[in-house]
Amino acid sequence: MESNDFAANAHIAAFKTTQDFRFLTENNWRKRLVASSSGAPGSAHTNCQCFAATSQKAKPVFKIPHIIAHRGASVEAPENTIAAFRVAGARNAKWVECDVTLSADNKCVLIHDETLERTTNGKGSIHQSDLATLRGLDAGAWFSDIYKGERIPTLTDTLETLYFMEMGANLEIKPSGCDPVRLCHEVIAELKRAKDLPILISSFDDIAVAEMRKHAPEIPCGWLLETLPENWKAEYDRLGASAIHIDHAALTPVSAAEIVKAGVPLVCYTINEVDRARELFAWGVTSVITDDPAKLITAIPHRPLPSTR
Ligand code: G3P
Ligand code: MG
Repeated sequence: MESNDFAANAHIAAFKTTQDFRFLTENNWRKRLVASSSGAPGSAHTNCQCFAATSQKAKPVFKIPHIIAHRGASVEAPENTIAAFRVAGARNAKWVECDVTLSADNKCVLIHDETLERTTNGKGSIHQSDLATLRGLDAGAWFSDIYKGERIPTLTDTLETLYFMEMGANLEIKPSGCDPVRLCHEVIAELKRAKDLPILISSFDDIAVAEMRKHAPEIPCGWLLETLPENWKAEYDRLGASAIHIDHAALTPVSAAEIVKAGVPLVCYTINEVDRARELFAWGVTSVITDDPAKLITAIPHRPLPSTR
């Protein structure tokens, strides 16, 4: 779907008149969903944690859901594709996490790796391939034959899909070899056209976090970490971040409590086991990012209260 206007688009009009739009696809959507089904979807999400941003930071205009689908429902469908986002929605995930970077001609595209081999039938660097080349690749067949023909999505495609599924995103800015400043500016331009979507940016790249804060202070931006630095609070404040996103293995009950006590939303990745998710919620974690939203949402349909200490 190539669209320059969110509101005026025939494809979108067709979605609007359809009750069950989640199940529409160019390519046998219902068949895919049945084929990839791994259990009953969880109940509807009503239990999100308020976004606790301060007045110097992004405004608290949305809530972070307690479960976020990592690269879409990546256990059931090829990661970072429209199919994976739609399956996530069908499993009642309210948000997806996805990775955005730049093509050679500076278009925002969704892919995790710096190179094409693992998740497409292409070769070489994503940043040396233009959008037309990338859109010609198959990003689904590596995962399963039923996803043959799935494409690398543009950010535009992704935002439209999420908008009409009434979903939101944790959009991870992943320069991985391209210019982080240019990437941020392209992302900001896209997001300005999608004001109604709940979007929480995050990045491992400090330049990207700083750039987002400087040029789009209204868009909340999480600080993405593999480990928690000793002076995390000072650095968090210096960056002006709105949340901490951290590898769950790097978290302890003590460090989690410290972050929660400071009023900082705490997002953890990547949790595919129900017991571990329950433990993290008991520590006060705001949200867990999972490859398997069907499993976690079915087991934990609402955000559990943290245990008292
Ligand atoms: O945003 C959380 C997580 O996606 C960060 O790691 O490598 O899966 O993008 P990665
Ligand atoms: Mg990511």
